Amino acid sequence: MVRDKMKEDATIWISGTMHNIFSIGQLLTELDFKILNIITWEKTNPPPNFSCRYFTYSTEQIIWARKSKKTPHYFNYELMKQLNGDKQMKDVWRLPAIAPWEKSCGKHPTQKPLSVLTRLILASTKPNAWILDPFAGSSTTGIAANLANRRFLGIDREEEFLTISKNRKLEIDIPKIAATYRQKISGFNDKNELELFLVKEPQIEYKTEINFDSKRGDRLT
Ligand SMILES: C[S@@+](CC[C@H](N)C(=O)[O-])C[C@H]1O[C@@H](n2cnc3c(N)ncnc32)[C@H](O)[C@@H]1O
Repeated sequence: MVRDKMKEDATIWISGTMHNIFSIGQLLTELDFKILNIITWEKTNPPPNFSCRYFTYSTEQIIWARKSKKTPHYFNYELMKQLNGDKQMKDVWRLPAIAPWEKSCGKHPTQKPLSVLTRLILASTKPNAWILDPFAGSSTTGIAANLANRRFLGIDREEEFLTISKNRKLEIDIPKIAATYRQKISGFNDKNELELFLVKEPQIEYKTEINFDSKRGDRLT
């Protein structure tokens, strides 16, 4: 159970659609999480609705909740404000759907854009933090985490998605590609803002609280 693996001040982000977001919210409440926000990601370029019998689906909801009702969570208020033209960041994020360059290592059917994951990671974690995605898919969470100098553990039951994930990681291990991707991620005022922010962000050393086998490099015991 993910809740048991979370630190007391940790937060969880769960994305959904109108079909499941209400049940997710209900479950989180029953499990004693404190819901902090429900972000609406408004896709600036949604795919058309071919049936022409409904409004075009153009949003996804992302619930942000914290583990503990008592222990405060981290929120980078200042950076979020900076990204929103020096006004408080709202819970509606207008960001484009996934771009072709994000599929350089193959396609995952429900791959999220790096812009959404980068924003939520920067808002709620400090450098070197461990981020877990137990439904990693193509590991957009991990790529955004590593590009932002955070650590990542991903799990997926499908071998083909783990292969895409590993290839995406190998790609960003090339510093020039990582630098280019940091410039391409949407949601910043200009193409150098993410890199400049990361350079200035104070580094924090966390104790590794999971069993990490350093001899095997990337394997968890
Ligand atoms: C919505 S996708 C995640 C997509 C991801 N955010 C991305 O950008 O690529 C959910 C993933 O969870 C995986 N999954 C579903 N049930 C699982 C389970 N019980 N254990 C591990 N992985 C699971 C699926 O294989 C799928 O790749």
